[in-house]
Amino acid sequence: MDKAQLIAIAEEARELSYSPYSHFAVGAALLCTDGTVYQGANVENSSYPLCMCAERNAIYNAMMHGKSSEDFAALAIIADTEGPCSPCGACRQVISELFPAHAPIYLSNLRGDIRETDAEELLPFAFSGGDL
Ligand code: THU
Repeated sequence: MDKAQLIAIAEEARELSYSPYSHFAVGAALLCTDGTVYQGANVENSSYPLCMCAERNAIYNAMMHGKSSEDFAALAIIADTEGPCSPCGACRQVISELFPAHAPIYLSNLRGDIRETDAEELLPFAFSGGDL
């Protein structure tokens, strides 16, 4: 699967966003080495801190299907942003722990902009389990 296909699946996931408060819909798609793709979208709540981001939902969705970091091949994130949608700090921390350091992460938007990055670039000098 190429990055355009993975981003298209993230865009499809974005349609499932529950974002009545921010009206900011985000979609994510996580590709595994066996070809399986797990989707995520942001899910909000009237108690705002309970909102969950799309990329974390995609990772947790994959994990709830028995997948883990060694199975993860690529991650795509999409929103209606001016530039490629950049993951929030909380997601960067989760990605840093649960996603391979150098697997491709495609940040994108509805205009077709794509920025390829990876977990280490998104969160250099990360806090990790090794620090505990
Ligand atoms: N959001 C994501 O889903 N991913 C991000 O990395 C940025 C923020 C969601 C959370 C909230 O539902 C909405 O976008 C506005 O912050």
